[in-house]
This record gives sequence, C-alpha cells and structure tokens, in this order.
Amino acid sequence: MIQSFGKLLRAEWRLHQHNKVNKLGVVDPSAQTLHFLPNVFEESVLKALLAEIEQLKSSWVRGDNEWRRGFAIGGHELKGLCEGEWLDYLNSSYFKSKVQEATGIPTLEYVSVKDTNRISLLLYQGADGGDGIDWHVDGSIYLGERWAGILTLVEKTNEDSAKLEVEQDNCVTTFPKEEMTNSLVLFRGDHIKHRVRPMLDGEERIVISLLFSDWPRMTLNPFLRLYQSKVNKAFYNNPRL
Ligand SMILES: [Fe+2]
Repeated sequence: MIQSFGKLLRAEWRLHQHNKVNKLGVVDPSAQTLHFLPNVFEESVLKALLAEIEQLKSSWVRGDNEWRRGFAIGGHELKGLCEGEWLDYLNSSYFKSKVQEATGIPTLEYVSVKDTNRISLLLYQGADGGDGIDWHVDGSIYLGERWAGILTLVEKTNEDSAKLEVEQDNCVTTFPKEEMTNSLVLFRGDHIKHRVRPMLDGEERIVISLLFSDWPRMTLNPFLRLYQSKVNKAFYNNPRL
C-alpha cells in the first residue's frame, strides 16, 4: 500500500518535471523512435468509414486558436455519431495486439474511454488561408509513457510529402504522400516534435487521432488536468476529461 502510494507520488513528480522542461524543448533522446503501420483497415472498411465521415459534416467543431487551426470531432461525440465496423476494429484486442507488437511494448493500451482523445477525428482544409498546426510537442497527463497515433484517412494534397512532419534527434522526417493513406504513425508525441504543414487551397486531410499509454493512469495534478481540459475545449468544444 505504502509502496504503491510512493510509486504514484514519484510518477506524479516525474510527470510534473517532464511537462515543465518539455515546453522548453527538452525531450528524452531515448524516446525518438517512430513506428509505421501500413494498411490498417481492410479496403471495404475504409470505404465505409469514408462514407460515414461524409455524413458527419455538421458535427465538425472548428478550432482556430494557439494550438491548432482545423476541425475536429472528439471521442465522446464520435461514440454517439458512428457505429461502423471501423470503430469496433480500432477497439478490438486484435488491433491492440498490432500496436503492442509494432512498438514492442506488451503493456501498451488505449487511455480510458473517459478521455475524448482516445479516438478522435481531425480534419484540415486549405480554404481561407489553410489549416495546420505549428511545430510542438504534446502535453501529457498520463503517468506512463504517452504514445500518439495518427491514422491517415485522406491526404488529398498537391505535394509529394504528407502534411505530417516529425523531428527526431533534430532531423525532420517527412513521409511520402502515397504511403500515408490507411497508415498509422505511432510516436511519443510529447518527445518527438511534430507539425501539420499548412494546407494549401483545395487540399484536404482527415486523420484519426489515437492515444495510448503503457500506464494509462491520469494525473491527479489539477493544473495539468485544467490544461488538458482547455485543450479539449479548444479542439472539441467539450472540456470534459
Ligand atoms: Fe500534437
């Protein structure tokens, strides 16, 4: 009991320290690995998913703030809107085992369903100056390692490389556009800097954002929770954690 309380306290302190220096650009050199999983969905499932997204047009929340410019639908809202096979697949133990296998972390799992970032949808368009997100690292509210997943559904652009860029060990990595659709990029978003290059006129990009942790226990630190709540409000117009 005392031992596990000590473990929690140490983890809370580690997370607090991490977020403090993280904002200043300090990242762990041992957390720079990225994993790429092609062909996530079967063709028919992907097709049905894209058709379902077409029906969601009025549900997108527009965000234009210090964090990002684009549209989003949070996990809480998605649950009420979608019922496709794709969601069952992403929640299946088979998919979880694929993620664990890819990262080599057998304890990696989704964060709780209470977290709207567990599975959410993001849309970027080129109209009116172009959506995007500037270079950043993500904040973390989990006591374990935070793993972000970006599953690209649509990469309709006029450029050769995909809009997502990451910076590993001070080197920028880009992805060939033709390999991006239906692929999942897994990375430590709080240790690998990343951005979404500004969208150009007529371009469109839609991704599913996934969130995993090897110890998905949410911090009790009220400041970190408040920060995440503000991000959720800005992204999904729903501050709930
Ligand atoms: Fe991010």
